[in-house]
Amino acid sequence: MLALMSLAFGSSLMAKDVKLFSPDGSLTVTMDVDKGRAWYHVMRGSEVVVSPSDLGFVLNDGDFKDDFKMRGVTRSSLDETWSQPWGEDAKVRNHYNEMRVRLQQRGGHKRSLDVVFRAFDDGVAFRYEFPQQETLKDFVIMDEATQFAMPTNPSTWSIPALTPYYEGIYTRQPLSEKGNMSGPIAMEVNDSLFLAVMEANLTDYSTMNLAHTGTTLKVDLVPWKNGDKVRVGHTRVTPWRAVIIGRTPADILLSRMALNLNDACRIEDTSWIKPTKYVGIWWALQKQQWTWAQGKRHGATTANTKRYIDFAAKHGLGGVLVEGWNYGWDTDWTRHGDGFSFTRAYPDYDLEGLCRYAAERGVRIIAHNETGGAAQNYENQLEDAFVLYESLGINTVKTGYVNAHFYNGELQHSQWGIRHFRKVIETAARHHLMIVNHEGAMPSGIQRTWPNLIATESMRGQEYNAFDRNGGNPPYHECILPFTRGLGGPMDFTPGIFEYRNDSVPGTRPQTTLAHQLAEYVVIYSPGHMAADLIENYEHQPAFKFIEDVPTNWERTLVPHAAMGQYVTYARQERGTDNWYVGSVTDDQARNLSLPLDFLGDGRFEAIIYEDGPDADYRTNPYPMTIRRLEVDRSSVLTLHLAPGGGTAISIIRH
Ligand code: NOJ
Ligand code: CA
Repeated sequence: MLALMSLAFGSSLMAKDVKLFSPDGSLTVTMDVDKGRAWYHVMRGSEVVVSPSDLGFVLNDGDFKDDFKMRGVTRSSLDETWSQPWGEDAKVRNHYNEMRVRLQQRGGHKRSLDVVFRAFDDGVAFRYEFPQQETLKDFVIMDEATQFAMPTNPSTWSIPALTPYYEGIYTRQPLSEKGNMSGPIAMEVNDSLFLAVMEANLTDYSTMNLAHTGTTLKVDLVPWKNGDKVRVGHTRVTPWRAVIIGRTPADILLSRMALNLNDACRIEDTSWIKPTKYVGIWWALQKQQWTWAQGKRHGATTANTKRYIDFAAKHGLGGVLVEGWNYGWDTDWTRHGDGFSFTRAYPDYDLEGLCRYAAERGVRIIAHNETGGAAQNYENQLEDAFVLYESLGINTVKTGYVNAHFYNGELQHSQWGIRHFRKVIETAARHHLMIVNHEGAMPSGIQRTWPNLIATESMRGQEYNAFDRNGGNPPYHECILPFTRGLGGPMDFTPGIFEYRNDSVPGTRPQTTLAHQLAEYVVIYSPGHMAADLIENYEHQPAFKFIEDVPTNWERTLVPHAAMGQYVTYARQERGTDNWYVGSVTDDQARNLSLPLDFLGDGRFEAIIYEDGPDADYRTNPYPMTIRRLEVDRSSVLTLHLAPGGGTAISIIRH
């Protein structure tokens, strides 16, 4: 295969190809033009990572992928370390070499196009830039020709492209057997080559899905209603097309390429951005015990909310999410989202009084804005609503978009939708509001630029363990989420279900052990996790201590064990302390994993270990949990015993 490749492209490589090396020299990107067609390929040493793959576009007035010549190449490098207000690591190193290749068409209007490549030690990325030119002012992209050609047929983890809200189960098949997919996708190529393909910095563009012919992936952009893909005007750059490249699965999880490919923070003073753990009037709605709509079982009442505030205050959780507080829920709201008001509270919900009651107890209400997909109705009220929330001391808004279509039939993941989501985030930033976005865009690292976007759903969250008619998420779900959806940004998964009984859809419940539910707080990254269960289910539960203790911000993140879709262990150091927290989850297989604690600093620590009890099994016996305390130091080695569907959560606190 390799020999064939170099024969086939040998002539053009010799001609005038340009190369870019990663800082450590291990990765090489080559770009060239062959008979007017621009292409690139990626090698790791002598191993082909991406075979020669097309670049370019089809525009509304013709092809922008043929008839090119290379006009020139400019190069630059960067090695910077930047800090983030919250994140998996306090500091992030951004180290790459860059080359910008100017292409120009020989005929016609002689239009030019720049392709900018960055080679990092953990992957490569490129984007297109449209230089200002007379004959390319406002134009429409009808198709993006970008390919990622795989030299083999790797095992690929993905969800189908049209999965509503990305709420799908990631499955593994050989690439050639997949349908169209949504990114990020994860690939196991061989024992020492693991990849993820994704986009970074999705701004004023349409979402990148991936089609393929055989093992050649091609960008498939989500269209506007009239078939346009991207209307280019003011924004002259595309999102980055990124391939994360690792020798181990853990390398993929530790890559910070997605963040590094986004712009620096645009919020000058980030001191108000303080994500927190939260409880909420929520799980009882998912299980149909309470209703969003008014009536006898209305959940968002003043009395219920006070109970939740009291509980949050008592247990040191900073937020209470309240869903169903505002007018608009009394009809079929998924079809009549225009009826939602984001400022008028139902009569049995004392909006102002509750915000005061919460503030007096050091807690903040998290406002909920379900739009039913009527995004224009939301935009019309956005400014008024956010002014109101800010004046009431609300600092977080959870948004939601349960409807396949947005304004006027445009799709959620189209350029219209992407613009809408950004408008909400930017408006929120002006009003000192953090956003938790459900049914949102596929995260692409923009939280670096807009750290008030603290979490997104855009995955199949815990909620399916309440209402899914097929029993809930499979046990391996949290073992693949970090490798796929998690690469773009924090996940509002809503962990921490302690009571599995479900009267509304009997048989549907978390397909995990209870210890696995605790481990999710570390394995699934979010700066502000929910304690998702009804508060009464946490009373007198010793395991709840882990949820109280687990931090919301990290200094450093390590991944001691990882196999895509099978198991994963994270060890994270609390921001600003010497304390560490470990979370480990497995699929339906029991496992014993050895964990050296050599990441600890000097001195002695107390470990509190929350592990599956002797006969725990997610199918038959999910609850048994052993909690034990142990003196440890950096020479200690723990064995994690994970039951089928199980997990372990550990706090390691310095003496
Ligand atoms: C779907 C969201 O994901 C869920 O969290 C919310 O409760 C419902 N929509 C209602 O807005
Ligand atoms: Ca959802």
